[in-house]
Amino acid sequence: MKVLVIGGGGREHALAWKLAQSPRVQTVFVAPGNAGTAAEPQLKNVAITDLDRLAEFALAEKIGLTVVGPEAALAAGVVDIFRAKGLRIFGPTKAAAQLESSKAFAKAFMKRHAIPTAGYEVFEDAALAHAHVDASAEPIVVKADGLAAGKGVVVAATRAEAHAAIDAMLGDGKGGRVVIEEFLEGEEASFMVVCDGTGVLSLATSQDHKRIGDGDTGPNTGGMGAYSPAPVVTPNVHARVMQEIVLPTIEGMAAEGMPFSGFLYAGLMIDAHGAARTVEFNCRLGDPETQPILMRLKSDLFELLLQATAHDPARPLADIELQWDRRVALGVVMAAAGYPADPKRGDLITGLPAASEAVKVFHAGTELKDGKPVTAGGRVLCVTALGDSTKLAQQHAYEVVRGISFAGAQYRRDIGQRALKR
Ligand code: AMP
Ligand code: GLY
Repeated sequence: MKVLVIGGGGREHALAWKLAQSPRVQTVFVAPGNAGTAAEPQLKNVAITDLDRLAEFALAEKIGLTVVGPEAALAAGVVDIFRAKGLRIFGPTKAAAQLESSKAFAKAFMKRHAIPTAGYEVFEDAALAHAHVDASAEPIVVKADGLAAGKGVVVAATRAEAHAAIDAMLGDGKGGRVVIEEFLEGEEASFMVVCDGTGVLSLATSQDHKRIGDGDTGPNTGGMGAYSPAPVVTPNVHARVMQEIVLPTIEGMAAEGMPFSGFLYAGLMIDAHGAARTVEFNCRLGDPETQPILMRLKSDLFELLLQATAHDPARPLADIELQWDRRVALGVVMAAAGYPADPKRGDLITGLPAASEAVKVFHAGTELKDGKPVTAGGRVLCVTALGDSTKLAQQHAYEVVRGISFAGAQYRRDIGQRALKR
């Protein structure tokens, strides 16, 4: 069968690489892909980003399954477009994707269904938002409504910072909405599941590193590294998250006429007592969490997603037992100079290693120039390694990172620290 993966980041490289391992998959097209997907024997890049044209391409190529990576395509309704043409696609509809595309929608949804999350207020009027900050305890979390690639959130330590964030988001009559939230204490984890509208199957857990700098300092990014599993998600925490967050979400979306199919990602804050609250929902897999998670997945991803789009009541998703590598997988993101504010492009990448069983370099912002890989985006590579412990996976990943170079490469030196501290 032929498969199409929409997107061109590290998550999509990992998805396409894993889907291509299925004996039933002949070719995986990646639209638009990157220099990494261009180099894989079973993958083929397709230079189309327009969603209607992608649907035409899928019809013409007789694509049997399309898998969507990024939120922007989902929020723009790619699933609705493909389904209207009778094409099989794994992902939420535009309506269901609001769980990510509108923080105001997600917060109101969680309130309606008593799903644990931070207390919040939504503002369109800057003066009212400023007044709310004056009446709130520090720290204060200010979020722009709408998609912002993980960068529309300010965790303000002081009221002054919160006021500045509101000015940046709502000032000068820009319009828009902000959500102002209570600050949650605890440890974050990424909890992702496969959904088919009514049923759910959880994937392995993971932890991201959102800040650019070591020790969680500096601005938020799309994610600078991740590992799987996340030790903070004990079996007890896992069971509570399924009961208190994931199942009520799937049931609530179905009850409201927006059944959620696709990957659902709950960003969690887990407190010292093991109680989890939802920081955010994403309607897709995490990047870079996907890279270590799929390094550990032994089961056939294509068969799983085919079943999740089959809606066969005789084969509930929850009955599937996924097989995971017992080792830890850890991925270190190498980002371009200037990331996240203004990433530099066009620098030659050298020292990429040959493929091996325990290490894989997933490409993100890369392209080929005169047949050679060059930087073409903020996050450039995710060097992902397996090891018998977090320490060993970390050592292995960093050995490979140190062998790769491009001008101004930035990476964190402490990916995995939280798991090592436990
Ligand atoms: P989001 O885009 O909503 O995931 O927010 C980005 C990051 O900001 C999260 O991963 C957290 O590290 C932090 N954050 C967001 N909301 C809160 C909150 N209510 N309390 C504490 N930290 C938060
Ligand atoms: N790594 C965080 C995200 O994908 O949203």
